[in-house]
Amino acid sequence: MTKLIATVFDLRQHVAIWKAKGETLGLVPTMGALHAGHLSLVRAARAACDRVIVTIFINPTQFNSPQDLAAYPRTEAADVALLAPLGVDVIFAPPPDQVYPTGFSSQITVSGVADPLEGALRPGHFAGVATVVAKLFGMTQADRAYFGEKDWQQLQVVRRMVTDLNIKTEVIGCATLRETDGLAMSSRNARLSAQARSAAPALYAAMTAAASAITTGRLSSDMALKAAENALHQAGFAPVEYLVLCDGETLQPSTDLKRPLRLLAAAWIGGVRLIDNIAVTPVS
Ligand code: PAJ
Repeated sequence: MTKLIATVFDLRQHVAIWKAKGETLGLVPTMGALHAGHLSLVRAARAACDRVIVTIFINPTQFNSPQDLAAYPRTEAADVALLAPLGVDVIFAPPPDQVYPTGFSSQITVSGVADPLEGALRPGHFAGVATVVAKLFGMTQADRAYFGEKDWQQLQVVRRMVTDLNIKTEVIGCATLRETDGLAMSSRNARLSAQARSAAPALYAAMTAAASAITTGRLSSDMALKAAENALHQAGFAPVEYLVLCDGETLQPSTDLKRPLRLLAAAWIGGVRLIDNIAVTPVS
């Protein structure tokens, strides 16, 4: 039976009982508006842990504007209906004052990996993410927490924080779930017009083409990225905010194929901002 819980007190009571029995606990943090990508994290947690908690909390501190926060889809009843059949033990969906009570004054700022790309374009975003994730780890005492590679930089920020602050929760990264045409699943895809939706797979297509040109040595990384950017403009993407080859861990620009590299992009189509990323691994 899936329980819907709204207070930290109730959550801690469940956690205490499970911990006393020596059960392992998996956490899947979300902001709701769930789709198959989120559910793949839940399935991974379900397969590896005795107990699974999914959190649904639209975290106000990671939004860059009140309009963005207000526009975020709220679909709690549908989310609960999707989670129940997956054997989730607890859905923790707290009101904002449970997470940020009066007087709340602390913040976790990760530097380095959180600075470029999304960090530069969305000031304060990763401090909001790191702070709420640290709080969710503290509230649940989870043994493992599941995050999507879809938000690659977020995953690296969380990993950095966990290492730096000696947090015991093990962070598990899960592959990006895609539509059959390659478009990464995202709650934002629902906002695409029919025309933008049919053009949107060009993002993944351009990225995979660039990655293959780079790893086979067919093109220099500069040329491959330029070609990919041109393909995106052709498909109707504007602006392309970034399309960069980075060290997968530090997110610093890199072309060192001996390191795990990541190609990351953010681009707008039909007024919707899409992000995506893929591994760039040399062919052996
Ligand atoms: P949200 O955007 O709801 O995403 C929750 C989790 O689902 C994240 O770890 C995200 O990377 C993962 N996810 C989203 N789309 C995915 C896809 N197509 N394939 C695989 N995983 C996918 O990310 C957040 O919420 C918040 O920042 C949060 C971590 C909950 C902190 O507030």
